[in-house]
Amino acid sequence: MNILLLGPPGAGKGTQAKRLEERYGMVQLSTGDMLRAERAAGSPLGKQVQAIMDAGKLVSDDIMIALIANRITQLGGKGFILDGFPRTVPQAEALDVMLEKNGIAIDQVIELTVDDSALVDRIAGRFSCKNCGASYHDRHNLPKHNGQCDVCGSTDFVRRPDDKAETVAARLTAYHEQTAPILPYYAKKGVLRSVDGMADIDVVTTQVETILNKSKG
Ligand code: AP5
Repeated sequence: MNILLLGPPGAGKGTQAKRLEERYGMVQLSTGDMLRAERAAGSPLGKQVQAIMDAGKLVSDDIMIALIANRITQLGGKGFILDGFPRTVPQAEALDVMLEKNGIAIDQVIELTVDDSALVDRIAGRFSCKNCGASYHDRHNLPKHNGQCDVCGSTDFVRRPDDKAETVAARLTAYHEQTAPILPYYAKKGVLRSVDGMADIDVVTTQVETILNKSKG
């Protein structure tokens, strides 16, 4: 099964993708994580995108399409969850072309809907494990054992540089202006489903799983 998770910054795409990975054995393809890995490695691509990401703007379509095309050819038939791609209509169109070329179809496109005011709170409170990347929140999603990652046990946590209040506003603007227009693109294809992303994390997971279980028949 192959799915796209869509939604604004902080909607819970990464949180849900990690759970689906564990539950269904799918591969999470997060373009944000790929770019952060390039930055951490100090690669030429990482250096090229650093200022753009920190300003809350979108990286160019050419760069993103090349990055994801490379990963899709390496999947070897495994199901995937696209998280953070596509983010513009040209990216959605390019994705269709690359999937067709590889004989792959998207089974479901799931949009997580969340109010802008809640997004700011979620992003401002987010932190993640430095070792394995598991994502937490200061109030909504704390590690079960104080100060210790639930997944790998590390006690080292980090906050993203683009999670500053001033950058969050730019990211929300980029979402409304450049990414939201892809929703009608998928609605027209009849594959778009919406889930109430304002609900508790577990409730959102149940809603997403219900869609996927129906899709599997
Ligand atoms: P990216 O990393 O994709 O960031 P994003 O889309 O802004 O999404 P986030 O990771 O912020 O949010 P999320 O929806 O995954 O939420 P999460 O699960 O963490 O992109 C970063 C940058 O890279 C972009 O700004 C751009 O520069 C560049 N980029 C990446 N892809 C690109 C592309 N295709 N084209 C161009 N540029 C690209 O949850 C957030 C917090 O809320 C967490 O603390 C979590 O614990 C909490 N939470 C989650 N769900 C709930 C819930 N239901 N209730 C309460 N709290 C919750």
